[in-house]
Amino acid sequence: MSASDEIQRRRTFAIISHPDAGKTTITEKLLLFGGAIQMAGAVRARRADRHAASDFLKVEQERGISVSTAVMSFEYEGFAVNLLDTPGHEDFSEDTYRVLTAVDSALMVLDNAKGVEKRTKALMDVCRMRTTPVITFSNKLDREGLDPFDLMQDVEDHLNIACVPMTWPIGMGKEFEGVYDLVNRQVIFYQSTERGRRNDRLVIDDLEGGALEELFGEEKAAKLRDDLELLEVLDPFDAEEYLAGRQTPVFFGSAINNFGVKELLDQFVRSAPAPQPREAREREVVPTEERFSCFCFKIQANLDKMHHDRMAFVRITSGVYSRGMKLKHVRTGKNMTVNNATTFLARDRVVTQQAFAGDIIGIHNHGGIRIGDTFTEGESLKFTGIPAFAPELFRRALLLDPLKAKALLKGLQELSEEGAAQLFRPMEGSDYIIGALGILQFDVITSRLESEYRVRARFESVALAAARWVTCDDEDELDRFVQENRRRIHTDIAGNIAFIAQSDWAVGYAQEQYPKISFHKSVEI
Ligand code: G4P
Repeated sequence: MSASDEIQRRRTFAIISHPDAGKTTITEKLLLFGGAIQMAGAVRARRADRHAASDFLKVEQERGISVSTAVMSFEYEGFAVNLLDTPGHEDFSEDTYRVLTAVDSALMVLDNAKGVEKRTKALMDVCRMRTTPVITFSNKLDREGLDPFDLMQDVEDHLNIACVPMTWPIGMGKEFEGVYDLVNRQVIFYQSTERGRRNDRLVIDDLEGGALEELFGEEKAAKLRDDLELLEVLDPFDAEEYLAGRQTPVFFGSAINNFGVKELLDQFVRSAPAPQPREAREREVVPTEERFSCFCFKIQANLDKMHHDRMAFVRITSGVYSRGMKLKHVRTGKNMTVNNATTFLARDRVVTQQAFAGDIIGIHNHGGIRIGDTFTEGESLKFTGIPAFAPELFRRALLLDPLKAKALLKGLQELSEEGAAQLFRPMEGSDYIIGALGILQFDVITSRLESEYRVRARFESVALAAARWVTCDDEDELDRFVQENRRRIHTDIAGNIAFIAQSDWAVGYAQEQYPKISFHKSVEI
């Protein structure tokens, strides 16, 4: 197969959902269909990552290598599917946003009883910013939930995207009978895991012929017919609208009962986009270009407890990787030969022999790679759009062993390069500030400082509550601002200037005082 055909058959996506909607369950079913795991339950253990801090750390430690974490690749019907995992816990949302920079589309999972929830909305906002196409799965139809019209209305109202149902539920909860497949005009019967098997599909072209009554009784048949009539006024599925992020095809089902997931996967591989071009500062990079390029969107430590390794996850943006390739690490200018890149199958990791644009591979990293770094065959490229967000929680690290000051700083610097938290150097004074969006990030850092750097530290609150990166076209004005606010000026590890204050009010006040200065809640890294 040519490289271009290989690229065309790739589908790289992530699942976005509010915790408990069913992301883990769906992931598991998708992997089962892809033959990537043999039995249900393999992904379960990872769910604990959304629990309390202590559980989270324990699970991180125990997780080992049984299931890879950042990406699961599998083959399905001739497609090479890369499913990127997003952390379940909202304290790690920054990580999730960055994962979304590495996908070409997303699957949104809703709990049919709850509709759009807080985290669904936050994640969907990111997809919209990047015009990432989204397919929707409304889960848990085996329980009582919203009427499907209300569910679609909820999505349209809160997420500002048009819904196009691809299947339509017949009954719900205990009365859930299955779905009507609107594209193939057939009933797909629901089989709960407890109920016995029955003929699972039946084409019903003539909805008036009495077949529906025979199958579901008067009431449900009438409701389905009425619903279908109402649906006729909706715009049909339009691949272009979907790819532009304006329409989302909607499926209904029950992941735990393995119902509706296959239809979803079939539609997904057919409609979801192949690897898309990516913007770099210098130019747009197209996947089918001959020359290889990639960027790092995530760094994960201790995937393998035995080796204390760190894995830089990179998204291939163009060309083909082959083992032993010489790559330029653009930020440092250093060249390196990559022999031991890793491909992540659901349960295994294998040494990558070849990988194509759209794929995610892991590069072993001994501390030199930062999130946002680019690797190429020589060209200087810097991909844009990989965000860091203004932290909302601020701490100072207190060293418990005063002789370890150097090791502490090294640890904080490296962990910050990995995106575990953000480190800020003050313009005045010597107390580095660590910023985070979620409190669990501090727990992770404390634990990693101890296990990887042999540094015992604890974090102490500081009287800071709001941070903004500042820029200004007028250098003199920026300089004046910095000099007049020295006590609040910090620099991050990339050298960007940040204004960190006690309150949002103080930020607002500074904005009024210095109208020429731009205050940013996020930066590109
Ligand atoms: P998440 O990763 O999005 O957080 O959700 P997850 O798949 O873990 O599912 C959350 C809960 O919802 C689980 O129950 C799961 O079994 C259940 N669930 C998933 N899909 C369906 C479905 O189609 N119907 C019904 N009724 N439930 C579903 P749990 O009690 O929290 O965990 P467990 O004891 O089942 O492991």
